[in-house]
Amino acid sequence: MTDSYIIKGGKPLKGEVILSGAKNVALKTIIAALMFKGNVILKNIPKINDVLDLIELIKSLGATARFMEKNTLIINGDSLKNNKVELQYGSKIRVSFMLIAPLLNRFGECFVPNPGGCRIGARPIDRIIKGLVALGVKINYDTETGYYHAKIVNKPKGNYRFEKPSHTGTELLMMIGLMTDEKVEIENIANEPEIDDLILYLNSSGANILEESNKIIVNKCPELRQKETFTIMSDRNELVTYATLAVASGGDVTISPINKNLISSFLKIMKIAGAGVEEISNYKYRFFYQGKIKPVNIETSPHPGFMTDWQPSWAILMLKANGPSVIHERVFENRFSYVNELKKFGANIDFVDVKVNDPDSYYHFNHDKNRAYQQTIKIVGSSELHNAVLNIGDLRAGAALACGALLANGESVVNGASILERGYEDFVGKVKKLGGEIKKV
Ligand code: EPU
Repeated sequence: MTDSYIIKGGKPLKGEVILSGAKNVALKTIIAALMFKGNVILKNIPKINDVLDLIELIKSLGATARFMEKNTLIINGDSLKNNKVELQYGSKIRVSFMLIAPLLNRFGECFVPNPGGCRIGARPIDRIIKGLVALGVKINYDTETGYYHAKIVNKPKGNYRFEKPSHTGTELLMMIGLMTDEKVEIENIANEPEIDDLILYLNSSGANILEESNKIIVNKCPELRQKETFTIMSDRNELVTYATLAVASGGDVTISPINKNLISSFLKIMKIAGAGVEEISNYKYRFFYQGKIKPVNIETSPHPGFMTDWQPSWAILMLKANGPSVIHERVFENRFSYVNELKKFGANIDFVDVKVNDPDSYYHFNHDKNRAYQQTIKIVGSSELHNAVLNIGDLRAGAALACGALLANGESVVNGASILERGYEDFVGKVKKLGGEIKKV
């Protein structure tokens, strides 16, 4: 057996978690670093599989990158020499298509494969391609090779309005905007705080990016050069994983550092569910079991709503709730790979049909009226969970399955540890520190 966790569950988890840096900022700051002149030093970069794969990828393009200290990464893109992302690297990690920005910046032309990554839906990039074209990038897709060929003839300029927002789409078009000689405007943007952190990083290095309500304006910037090291924000998704696990296990866990604004919708719902939430300071929170957990229905939505990345962890908490609850997923169309797996623990969880009046506007993916979707699940809490053998389908589902095993009585096997470790740094070490019995085999 390889790539599995053996987990003995049933114990309340207690102690402290120090959060790692946010995966969804780390990846973008590394890619954007290739547009800078000179060295770029990034602190709080999590050593997770997605980051390690991206480092291998940028090295294959000629950049240099190495960890100076535990989580401090130094990158230099001056030596970029290839304008083609090889499939063996690109297919491993979805954000590889964002390399279009630094490669166009350096070479004016590049070849990037259709993105891989987590299987949480079809994940088309149609909106992003339209945006690139609107800003003046010429782009063609070769169905035989699976490659995009992008080219810049004139400097990007103009504006683009997303029909529906896209998180990485907003970031990629913003990076393309950095090449403008005039101005680029992007409207109906995603408002995730990870994007704000990326803007902070770019502006602290010479960019001139303004964020207005629902709009980003990228002004001409002569060059990007780091003036001081940049520390990326904490991972709010990691906080939610450990906070729900703490309460569901009947435990008591303190988590830091985190800015309250990043998790306010989560804190609100935790309190409604009757979880113990104590603000120890404005960057440190305690989550603890304080009696029966109440069932709370949620629907996912972009920031400032209840994030899609949090719903698998919410399902884990609701397994311990005192009654039935419903989760409605609005952002991705395949984010419930954990449902059939959790049933193996004896969990009372299943898909339900819920009629939506205007699915085109309600869902954030491109809804096809001729297709059948399973976007809603019902969980009836309070059932005793027993041990099982489970398979991880995607990153956040993986965390839910490992946490489910920590709640279940007996010894479980969770296969696919490397998928979970795409996004969670030292999962085994952090769980052990809370008293959880877990080992990787
Ligand atoms: N979409 C399209 N066409 C596009 C772009 C998006 O149909 O051109 C659809 C997507 O398929 C999805 C919805 O629009 O159904 C929203 O997608 P978005 O582009 O906003 O998501 P993303 O950029 O691919 C990022 C994070 C996700 C996170 C979402 C929502 C990264 C690398 N990924 O994905 O994180 O769930 O935003 O905030 O930043 C994770 O960390 O596990 C993860 C999946």
